[in-house]
Amino acid sequence: MPLSRRNVLGAALLAGTATLLPARAHAASDRVEALIARMTLAEKAGQLSCFNDEVRPVGAVFNPVVDPRGGEAMLADIRAGRIGMLFNGYGVAGARRAQEAALAGRLRIPLVFAADVLHGCRTIFPIPLAEAAAFDADLSERAARAVACETAAGGLHWTFAPMVDVARDQRWGRVAEGAGEDVLLNRLLAAARVRGFQGSDLRRADALLATPKHFVGYGAVRGGMEYAAVDMSAAELRETFLPPFLDAFAAGAGATMASFTDFGGVPVSANRPLLTDLLRGELGFQGVCVSDYDADRELIAHGIAADEADAARLAILAGIDMSMQSGLFVRHLPALVESGRVPVAAVDQAVRRVLTLKERLGLFNDPFRSIDARAERRETGSVAIKRMARKVATRSIVLLRNDGDLLPLPRAGKRIALIGPFGADKANLNGPWSFAGDAKDGIDVASGLRGVMADPALLTVEAGSGVTEPLPGGTARAVAAAQAADVVLLAIGEGGDMSGEGNSRTEIVVPAAQQALAEAMAATGKPVVVLLRHGRALALSGAVRDAPALLATWFLGEQTGPAVADILFGRVEPTGRLPVSFPLTSGQQPWSYDRRSTGRPPPDDQPMAPGRSHWRDAPDRALYPFGSGMGYTRFALSDLSVPAVVATGADVPVSVMVRNVGKRAGTTLVRIDLHDRVASRTRPVRQMKAFVRVTLAAGETRRIDLRIAARELALVASDGRWRVEPGAFDLWVVAGDGVEMQGAFEVR
Ligand code: NOJ
Repeated sequence: MPLSRRNVLGAALLAGTATLLPARAHAASDRVEALIARMTLAEKAGQLSCFNDEVRPVGAVFNPVVDPRGGEAMLADIRAGRIGMLFNGYGVAGARRAQEAALAGRLRIPLVFAADVLHGCRTIFPIPLAEAAAFDADLSERAARAVACETAAGGLHWTFAPMVDVARDQRWGRVAEGAGEDVLLNRLLAAARVRGFQGSDLRRADALLATPKHFVGYGAVRGGMEYAAVDMSAAELRETFLPPFLDAFAAGAGATMASFTDFGGVPVSANRPLLTDLLRGELGFQGVCVSDYDADRELIAHGIAADEADAARLAILAGIDMSMQSGLFVRHLPALVESGRVPVAAVDQAVRRVLTLKERLGLFNDPFRSIDARAERRETGSVAIKRMARKVATRSIVLLRNDGDLLPLPRAGKRIALIGPFGADKANLNGPWSFAGDAKDGIDVASGLRGVMADPALLTVEAGSGVTEPLPGGTARAVAAAQAADVVLLAIGEGGDMSGEGNSRTEIVVPAAQQALAEAMAATGKPVVVLLRHGRALALSGAVRDAPALLATWFLGEQTGPAVADILFGRVEPTGRLPVSFPLTSGQQPWSYDRRSTGRPPPDDQPMAPGRSHWRDAPDRALYPFGSGMGYTRFALSDLSVPAVVATGADVPVSVMVRNVGKRAGTTLVRIDLHDRVASRTRPVRQMKAFVRVTLAAGETRRIDLRIAARELALVASDGRWRVEPGAFDLWVVAGDGVEMQGAFEVR
């Protein structure tokens, strides 16, 4: 696929001259063309329609069910050629019934089965935001591969993942589903997850077609409010929101999903400049663009379409290939074509893409691929996938504070009070979109600790509080337990339903009842380790912020307990880093570490200097910025070497000595941030451009060589082109909180 950053340079959107370019047509196979030639308009509309699977329902998924019809009616519609894809069903037996119905249809076109598998199918992994904290594309790829094997074995071909929306507003609930606030991390993990889901050959029974979503800009919803409008400059779109899609497409993603949201006054589902001129014309994407759930019908509520037929017309003409759940294409496309309001070529083009997707998945040759009861038994909840889920969970945890080396705890000899609503709780382990996961399979924190403690009898567990409401007598019982212990572990934070889709918050704080519990724990004078549970960055305060030890533990999924125990007792070194900045207060949102320079930056040592950029009651800083996190050992940097002058278009080699100055082996993340000092547009105050994980034995020193790729120096210039502008760049090498060296180079 001819994708490079250069072909997203096009100035059409920037110059406001977006034209209605025809979508780039691509040749399909003879089989697909022959089928299209035989299809009626109704059959074409059927192939372009997908519905929530009622043949094999999976239980609670997020979408409010609109227009349910029941399993038998659905099978009849499949036989009649009115459905091209089913989503969010699960299990081989049901898949077989549905596929047999499709093959009993006039044209014998197989169904394709999709689902929202974002962080595990049956075995639930950490939420994607947590996994991003591992800063490890290879791990993300392997995790996605493991998830794909289990998912495909349950009769699925296609996942609506990864979500690659850059998320800089922690009020937005869907932060949980992506890789956080940084562009480079989003890009690398987008590509890695696509490679992992899809595997080496899409025709294999264990391949899962990937859907980088939501195209495009959803993360910038106004005020962080779910489903709100988006408005941004073309340069922001190209520098921040598009790059992860580019990398995901370049990795071969077979589909994308249009965002629900209004983009600059035109909802994406009706936005031809985005879905056709940009996605097809400029980016050259040839896969399927599926609408979001009922999103074409929502064009009526947006006030863009007069009625359902109008909504269907706008969506197909904008570039939506497949309509999700509304049924609008089935009901209206044939008449729209017959009346000349939609050219048949537009419908054929979409059908071509959908049938090509089915062909790429090998479904015409083997409609029963991934429908194998033996594989389902073998792969579901296998030892291998559980091991992988635990590894990822352990790698996702971020140690943010550890005063006086309170952690790791000894496995023996300490009386531990585990306090908080998430200590012995299974209901809140998985977090949002835990597709076919069963909360009962999860291992809670208490069980995880008991599995490692030399004497589990030294553990007492008290909830102390509910998630949002106090428990009668809860605080008193928790205080008594704390007083009888040597150390308090405080498992508090957000409930599983407080982040994810539809769960934006105005105050991103620990709920008041739990905050009160934390204050009561601090008042006991016992050392407190906060085990924070969350689907976003939180604004911490009081006893939670000031606790001597703090671990960000997100929603870690099924293996929560063992992973937390691995870290707490030092069986595994904490190596996670924050993929989102923890602010000082909710009102700072949106905020990211790579915000652009202001004309009145405060001096570093005087963040509240009068007349300089800050809020009246908060500096322009985070409590824990992007990348924060430490281990149980310390690292030091020395001997930074950066060339003084770099030729335009050349990579920048950077070399530095990293030393483990602590008493334990450990791993640190060495990263490089850049700032372009003078450019034609204001630049981020600093932005990550490269990183590598380095593992060193106690006392070991190693020279680390990193290259900053030339393209990482580029910006979208005032004329809309990606360009490296000559001049000076500041550079920072960071190897942990406060461990940093600064350099500079000049591009000529
Ligand atoms: C709505 C969500 O926005 C999207 O991410 C998801 O894939 C669809 N529903 C299908 O469940």
